Amino acid sequence: MAFPTETVYGLGADARNEAAVRRIFAVKGRPASHPLIVHLASAAEFQTWARSVPAVAYELAGRFWPGPLTLILKRSASVSDLITGGQDTVGLRVPMNSLAQQLLQAFAGGIAAPSANRYGRVSPTSAEDVRADLGDLVDLILDGGPCEIGVESTIVDLSSGPPALLRPGGISAEDLEGVLGQPMSSERGSEVRAPGMQAAHYAPRARIVLADASSLASVAERERGSGHSVVVLAPGTPALSSGIEQIRVPETLAEYARVLYRTLREVDRRQFDVAVVQIQPLSGLGLAIRDRLTRAAAAKLDQQP
Ligand code: TXA
Ligand code: MG
Repeated sequence: MAFPTETVYGLGADARNEAAVRRIFAVKGRPASHPLIVHLASAAEFQTWARSVPAVAYELAGRFWPGPLTLILKRSASVSDLITGGQDTVGLRVPMNSLAQQLLQAFAGGIAAPSANRYGRVSPTSAEDVRADLGDLVDLILDGGPCEIGVESTIVDLSSGPPALLRPGGISAEDLEGVLGQPMSSERGSEVRAPGMQAAHYAPRARIVLADASSLASVAERERGSGHSVVVLAPGTPALSSGIEQIRVPETLAEYARVLYRTLREVDRRQFDVAVVQIQPLSGLGLAIRDRLTRAAAAKLDQQP
């Protein structure tokens, strides 16, 4: 079933039931080599899923769980290859959304769940988004209303070497580094480790073009000059040529993150060809916003002949 978390909606299956986990891949159209995050009711379940858990994992879990943080740890022997993509590690997360918590506590086991969208597309932040993406392929959707955070969890690799940031997300790098007492490396793992880190991902149908505030209007004008219908995504009221529409996005990064995917879906619903998006600062949730928009922009470049 699909269920809400504070980040995005997940498509969940009993992590111990291989037939159920296979259905996740089938419904999403996701390649089998891509690992899934196992969602747990509490950090007390570490031992069941991970081995050789380093002290720093307990520190991060103690500070940020329940919440939008996924820890990559060495897996325990009982974890299915289907979950880990055949790797020796497992991603674990304890969500804080109250429906997710109730579900996990009632189920009393691990729930494997990727974001409840078709592979490569924009993640869902409401039950309606899930229904629009997955239709009748998903039997049941728990409707918890819109997601509070709006971008996926931050993924930190603690399985070997110093802590590494694999995917920026709902917990800022600054907050994590405050607990770690050292900067994280953001060296990428191999692309198999984290498909959400592939260049092309999180993509709407419209082409995304990033621009800074001073060049928004000229970039938008150039795109329109090439015959495209253009929308500008920016806070404030930039001076745009007539005929170019704007979707005003929130000023604060936390609020922007909350509506980011909903806004990308609106761009598609209104059938714009191109969205010119104002670049945001890289601090706090800005890092996750920039990451998703950069990958969304790369997706369309990949598809050009
Ligand atoms: O906020 C979230 O994390 C949401 C909600 C539903 O919890 N889930 C989510 O799952 O975004 P998904 O599958 O769309 O993205 C999870 C990312 C993928 O890029 C996956 O490759 C990576 O986590 N991942 C999972 N297990 C991993 C592992 N053992 N090693 C490295 N990366 C892993
Ligand atoms: Mg996803």
